[in-house]
Amino acid sequence: MKLKLFGQTNLTVTPIGLGLAALGRPGYINLGHAKDLNHSYDMAEMEAHAHTVLDAAWEAGIRYFDAARSYGRAEAFLASWLNSRQIDPAAVTVGSKWGYTYTADWEVTVPTGQKHEVKDHTLPVLQRQWQESQELLGNQLDLYQIHSATLDSSVLDDTAVLAHLAHLRNTGTVIGLSLSGTGQADTLWRALEIEFDGALLFGSVQATWNILEQSATAVLTAAHEAGLGVIVKEALANGRLTPRNQSPEFQPQMQTLTRLAQQHHTTVDALALAAVLNQPFVDVVLSGAAQTDHLLSNVAALQVQWSPDLANELLALGEETAVYWQARSNLPWN
Ligand SMILES: NC(=O)c1ccc[n+]([C@@H]2O[C@H](COP(=O)([O-])OP(=O)(O)OC[C@H]3O[C@@H](n4cnc5c(N)ncnc54)[C@H](OP(=O)(O)O)[C@@H]3O)[C@@H](O)[C@H]2O)c1
Repeated sequence: MKLKLFGQTNLTVTPIGLGLAALGRPGYINLGHAKDLNHSYDMAEMEAHAHTVLDAAWEAGIRYFDAARSYGRAEAFLASWLNSRQIDPAAVTVGSKWGYTYTADWEVTVPTGQKHEVKDHTLPVLQRQWQESQELLGNQLDLYQIHSATLDSSVLDDTAVLAHLAHLRNTGTVIGLSLSGTGQADTLWRALEIEFDGALLFGSVQATWNILEQSATAVLTAAHEAGLGVIVKEALANGRLTPRNQSPEFQPQMQTLTRLAQQHHTTVDALALAAVLNQPFVDVVLSGAAQTDHLLSNVAALQVQWSPDLANELLALGEETAVYWQARSNLPWN
């Protein structure tokens, strides 16, 4: 897999990265997550499983890895893998995120009224989580992102937080933000206005973009042109763009995807990932696979022969933004 520069940062990335949201904790919203983990949640076994998938990613050439403070023990599992394989910090790019605290206590489901992760984008949380990430990843950590920044969380108006992020940027860490929900585009337009010392604060953005949810196309193109590195997450719509999606309402779209995959001698997931890889604004697309065979199937996206006709058929599957995000919020933790 070819290395390339990540926007106008000094980091290098591969076109496919590995996200650890599903590998670091027992519960997640991806379709079939419980089956992936074989309902086995022993911490040491989960760490060994994460290392197996990380080894496969390394073998496949993946050199960007994405974690967050709230992904259970994802940062710790990534750190122990980097250390045990003696991977040179210069050989990989590691991103993590702050702003959500993991509160599921290694359970798959939490009691009614409680949350798996608690959002707080204030300065004390940034300071605490930065220390925690540093203790685990140290000089392996290249990119630190606000986790799911939104306009209503006011983080982009919090001068104390922004000034602290600028300080981290000035001392060598690329600062990014991730986005979620129907307000992704508005949030990123606002973020693109924030400058410190004559330069944009944010060196990268991580957004949801897939053939069902394309609403951030214009703003991601603007971000790319402004020099931000662009990472796409949820490229398979949390598993909805895989044969695992047996929802009766989605079967017409799945039939189209299956037909196109057969015509192009590939799989539905590789086709959906190829649609992301072929957007000119994208630097990295994350695989969220928690199984090695799924990861390898995802990586086959690099072999898909792209054409304008294929693009037209796939992009015609787009859903209304509000409908897409409602479906996502209905996904159960499992
Ligand atoms: N707000 C944020 O910042 C944010 C939010 C969400 C995600 N992220 C990042 O983005 C990464 C990717 O997100 P995501 O996990 O939602 O990714 P995704 O790629 O949209 O979905 C991954 C799901 O697709 C399934 N899958 C993949 N290939 C498959 C195949 N061939 N057959 C059947 N199922 C297949 C995976 O199953 P298996 O698990 O069985 O492999 C997993 O359930 C995360 O790990 C995280 O790093 C960030």
